[in-house]
Amino acid sequence: MQLRFSKILTLLSLLFTTAVVSGQAVEIKVAPEEDAPVISRHIYGHFAEHLGRCIYGGFYVGEDSEIPNTNGVRNDIVEALRALKIPNLRWPGGCFADTYHWKDGIGPKEDRPSILNVWWGNVKEDNSFGTHDFLNMCELLDTEPYLSANVGSGTPQELADWIKYTTHPAGTSPMPDLRAENGREEPWKVKYWGVGNEAWGCGGNMRPEYYADVYRRFATFMTNWNNDDGIYRIASGASGNDYKWTEVLMKNIPKSLIEAIALHHYSVIDWSAKGSAKDFTDDQYFLTMKEALKMEELITRHVAIMDKYDPDKKVDLLVDEWGGWYDVEPGTNPGFLYQQNTMRDAILASASLNIFNNHADRVKMANIAQAVNVLQAVILTEEEKLVLTPTYHVFRMFNVHQDAKLIPLSFISPLWVHKGEALPAISASASEDAAGKVHFSLVNIDDERTHQLELDVAGMNLKTVSGEILTADKIQQYNTFEAPDRVQPKAYTGASLRNGKLRLSLPPASVLVLEATK
Ligand code: AHR
Repeated sequence: MQLRFSKILTLLSLLFTTAVVSGQAVEIKVAPEEDAPVISRHIYGHFAEHLGRCIYGGFYVGEDSEIPNTNGVRNDIVEALRALKIPNLRWPGGCFADTYHWKDGIGPKEDRPSILNVWWGNVKEDNSFGTHDFLNMCELLDTEPYLSANVGSGTPQELADWIKYTTHPAGTSPMPDLRAENGREEPWKVKYWGVGNEAWGCGGNMRPEYYADVYRRFATFMTNWNNDDGIYRIASGASGNDYKWTEVLMKNIPKSLIEAIALHHYSVIDWSAKGSAKDFTDDQYFLTMKEALKMEELITRHVAIMDKYDPDKKVDLLVDEWGGWYDVEPGTNPGFLYQQNTMRDAILASASLNIFNNHADRVKMANIAQAVNVLQAVILTEEEKLVLTPTYHVFRMFNVHQDAKLIPLSFISPLWVHKGEALPAISASASEDAAGKVHFSLVNIDDERTHQLELDVAGMNLKTVSGEILTADKIQQYNTFEAPDRVQPKAYTGASLRNGKLRLSLPPASVLVLEATK
């Protein structure tokens, strides 16, 4: 369903009295389509930057650590992320990427130079986690790497060398030979390459016209002039509603040089007053969700521009940074962006993933920021301890949609009205996997009212239904190292399937994933 809620609020207000106050069920039409798009598994992607304790102290503790590890990478993190089936991991930034010179991070660790991480706390970066460490870690995680290249302070040669170093067979040029000398004979498989990051800001403060030219120059040398190596080149895209950025890039970059354009959108109430990650008010919950649900309009409008220049949908849209961004936890380094993660984040994540699923025809990847210990993390660590956040549980529950065929849904959402403002209360998406199992992900964003749902599944021949629900006693609830199971998915048995109708009740602020079999 495409919720253009800004445009249909008036209509919804008319329906509000009957749809919510009278307790009538929300009617959802489920309409499988033969030519519906497949939901790319890459929508469930992650992001790991050299920022705070994401890499150092998060993923990577070093070979000599007492914490069980494989070549320095924590085994418990590998196990937890493999359970999520993470499809890709973006690295090394973010803003850090445009300061990063990959040759600093290869060869014997004791010989690697140290630099200052100027974006994130001015801390020492000793380059002990570099290209081999990251790409070998991706193999451990069974995930595809997405390398974000330095355009802001790097050169096309440096990027071309990185591609050759990582992906070309040994014996074909000096770079792959250097890789072999450094202990890796076989190339890795690296398909995804970002050509800079936030070129409008930390990546060089460029104007879109200028960046489009810079992009064309860098992309030309990735990797042979005609890109016959199947490299997937991603242009640094717009921030939020900067539609001009997308327009200029689509107009000025030839289709032969680009596979995707990115978009970044963080759900921030106010950059100068972001508010606490866990001690927030109901007003702040509403405002966070208002920002999160803007994703629908952002994607719709960026896609409309892309459609104008690329009606055949050859260029993908990737939301390669998204999530909630709050004040850092009291007492932690402001440059490390460490924040707790509550049931609010679970709602934010699930509603966002539903939006991406429903735009599967153009949105082919998304990367929540960030995987471990930074912003809306799925995992938090403290020394040897690890906790899975509510957002982790959403990603685990939703991974059933990976590479499944989208089933379009249509419905009019009841409103969640808060102090005179309204947002849609219900978010939903559905898909059918290769084994014929149908999955519905249904979210009640409204933290005050239960909503009844009635899905019209007539003709789908569904026989059984089971599910899992994630909810908590309050929207501010979160997991801690001492109490890791406060917010946990539970089996849901409240759905009934009769006469072509799937009926259920969604408690306030809850996320439900149903599996139906034929
Ligand atoms: O994810 C944190 C930062 O947010 C990234 O480094 C940057 O790309 C964005 O502004």
